[in-house]
Amino acid sequence: MVTPPGENGIAAEVRAALLHALEREVHNCTRCSLGNGRTQSVPGEGPLNALVMFVGEGPGFEEDRQGRPFVGRSGRLLTESLKKTGIERTDVYITNVVKCRPPDNRDPLPAEVAACAAFLDQQITLVNPRIIVTLGRISMQRWFPNSAITKIHGQVRNIGRGRVAMPMFHPAAALRNPQWLADFERDMTTLPPLMERARRANQAAARGEALAAGTPHPGDADFE
Ligand code: URA
Repeated sequence: MVTPPGENGIAAEVRAALLHALEREVHNCTRCSLGNGRTQSVPGEGPLNALVMFVGEGPGFEEDRQGRPFVGRSGRLLTESLKKTGIERTDVYITNVVKCRPPDNRDPLPAEVAACAAFLDQQITLVNPRIIVTLGRISMQRWFPNSAITKIHGQVRNIGRGRVAMPMFHPAAALRNPQWLADFERDMTTLPPLMERARRANQAAARGEALAAGTPHPGDADFE
């Protein structure tokens, strides 16, 4: 069972400081050539104790300009869909597999994804989300390398360490295809009940061993 946010063995102030240090490192990063073309890198944003982390592909034009993830057209769809299901954007952590804009918004190359992977690993460790939502094929591949997004979008899978992952279509793809937009909006509605279960799993973890040995709350199995 994963320990709940804030109790992952690292004190909250230390996690906040480490996340800031990580952001500084991302801003100065030269691990791959994407850094050469950036206006600024886009580490990600959201609360330290977010239950949900969204992982997109990489910054686009607006994100590169503003230094924030998902602030262009795709971002508006993401923010509005979250709101429709009763979730505020400020309640979730949002980042990308690569932190610098690929030229002409091309897909990040495997070597670029690999060069940036340690940053995402550290963000996951520090934020310790219960739920990871992948947006698009590239971020889905990190957890489900041989799957087709058209087949597995909206499915919630256990990825270990008390976390689940749910692949969704990328909002840019949803904006291009009405069927995918409908799927995107439907998949988003999976989140509120899943977050409620994640909260209960955190409460159970905070109560500790006694509960672990007792009867699991229905639905908590996803977070084992
Ligand atoms: N597309 C992404 O994948 N990420 C962003 O931050 C913006 C657009």
